[in-house]
Amino acid sequence: MGINNISVVGAGQMGSGIAQVAALAGCRVLLHDTDDARISAAMDSIGRSLMIGAAKGRYSPEEAATALARLVPGGGLSAAADADLVIEAATENMAVKKGIFAALDGICGEGTILASNTSSLSLTELASATERPEQVIGMHFMNPVPVMKLVEIIRGLRTSEETYAEAAGLAARMGKTPLEVRDFPGFVSNRILMPMINEAVYAVYEGVAKAETVDDVMRLGMNHPMGPLALADLIGLDTCLAIMETLHEGFGDSKYRPCPLLRSYVHAGWLGRKSGRGFYAYGGGEGS
Ligand code: 3HC
Repeated sequence: MGINNISVVGAGQMGSGIAQVAALAGCRVLLHDTDDARISAAMDSIGRSLMIGAAKGRYSPEEAATALARLVPGGGLSAAADADLVIEAATENMAVKKGIFAALDGICGEGTILASNTSSLSLTELASATERPEQVIGMHFMNPVPVMKLVEIIRGLRTSEETYAEAAGLAARMGKTPLEVRDFPGFVSNRILMPMINEAVYAVYEGVAKAETVDDVMRLGMNHPMGPLALADLIGLDTCLAIMETLHEGFGDSKYRPCPLLRSYVHAGWLGRKSGRGFYAYGGGEGS
């Protein structure tokens, strides 16, 4: 079929990163969000990021300008009707995502593929909100999207071969490496990453070491590019908690229990970089 028109639902950091790489790959991209201010902020940040990429010689200034021109603030979901593929990058909540998928199923043409950037939730369950389970698939990008090479491609139980091939082909066109995984809680990436982050939070909670020290141990001792707590702040502590809850519920194993400190930070509104404070302070906010 060939994917040329994409709609991205959710203009947060993942949605804007996906919109950016899709536009650079030559697709026309509509960016949707329920919050217009978030769409404007995302358009500004994509523009800045494209210019930085051009200044670093990753592509020419003309390519950056052409990519930016392919991006259109999409407003409501009804504008997604003509999309070849929709990528949903909304909050990590099954009820919210099912609502979006059910709405898209009614709006989009019968050939449209519905993809989700979910970090951990079941694609088979998400597909049940639609009448097109064969055309529902997971495309799980990593943060920061313009830099990270991986896209996990997750098949739901009823996902067709054709849908899989289109999604994997699109990820490759975006310069990413698509890797196929099965529909299990947290897939592969977050089944392994999140328990490590959660354990790092437990180390702070139990007073084994302060956050900076935990991160330095993992950076200097294991050569991780950033420590697990700094990474949790980048991902968003609310997203980390939601993923741990999915693992805990999905496997029914206490080894996945979310650390109470992670839960209380989220309740306090300390969500990481996006809120100005998590395990570290950002932009002049309070320190941890
Ligand atoms: N957009 C575009 N480019 C960016 C960027 C962004 N948001 N952030 C960093 N970069 C680029 C920089 O411009 C720089 O480019 P250059 O090499 O051409 O100069 C390059 O990346 C390196 O950046 P920095 O020099 O500023 O800093 P670092 O060397 O520390 O790299 C990092 C930053 C790439 C974020 C690195 O620390 C890293 O790889 N961290 C781990 C990230 C990770 O694990 N991501 C996966 C998270 S899990 C996930 O997303 C799944 C979800 O479901 C939870």
